[in-house]
Amino acid sequence: MLNMINVDVTLEGDEGQVEVLKEINLTLEEKKIYVMTGPNGGGKSSIAKTIMGIYQPSGGQILLDGMDITNKGITERARLGIGYAFQMPPRFKGMKVRDMLTLASGSANLANQCDLLYDVGLCSQDYLDREINASFSGGELKRIEIASILARNLKVAVFDEPEAGIDLWSFQKLTETFENLNAKHNTTIVIISHQERILRLADQVIVVANGMIDEITGKEEILSEIERLDSECRCRQDCIKGGPENAECN
Ligand SMILES: Nc1ncnc2c1ncn2[C@@H]1O[C@H](COP(=O)(O)OP(=O)(O)O)[C@@H](O)[C@H]1O
Ligand SMILES: [Mg+2]
Repeated sequence: MLNMINVDVTLEGDEGQVEVLKEINLTLEEKKIYVMTGPNGGGKSSIAKTIMGIYQPSGGQILLDGMDITNKGITERARLGIGYAFQMPPRFKGMKVRDMLTLASGSANLANQCDLLYDVGLCSQDYLDREINASFSGGELKRIEIASILARNLKVAVFDEPEAGIDLWSFQKLTETFENLNAKHNTTIVIISHQERILRLADQVIVVANGMIDEITGKEEILSEIERLDSECRCRQDCIKGGPENAECN
């Protein structure tokens, strides 16, 4: 459904040109949930921004349902059904939550807007008429942005580290919401995340490091790797706490 073929992205950094993405080959299939993970600075947000048209490829091709969208801008891609919830959402100054949701969904239906806010763990009574400004916490802002993405009937929705700044209850709600969105609207979902709970939702896990796709694998492989690292780490801590300085783990 969405294909990135040999996509390179080079951007102008403070110290000249930076090769941010190298030879990205990625196929996103209809109705699937992908979780993108990997080290900080690996290129996850850059892949998301390239899908959204915020970053333009310096080489390669991007196809949506077979149509070449490589040179299409953000607005056109949004119109074609691609959405991106930023890692650090911008603040839409002077806009009420209600207006932002109306703009996103194309409808001012109150029941819908209540549902959307509920889906991200926010109470509509407290939020609908609030103006989006500096009084919002990072987590509140993120959830309102996620709600505005949910409001649209998208083909591909990318959520960039949605868990940041979110309490446990809302996080639980959000994971259910992602599953519902996928089941109800057939939306292909990409979630950039390091959370085990989110990894468990994945049909496939995309590991990104050094501006490249390291591997595309099943969640079982990743989860057992996490378990291995976790027990290795616990073992080391036990060694440090209890044993002699250079004790071997067994
Ligand atoms: N607009 C930009 N200009 C220059 N360098 C960038 C830009 N965006 C990202 N980068 C660089 O690309 C690399 C990948 O960043 P990013 O995609 O944000 O990683 P991740 O989301 O995996 O943490 C980093 O080294 C970052 O500094
Ligand atoms: Mg990022």
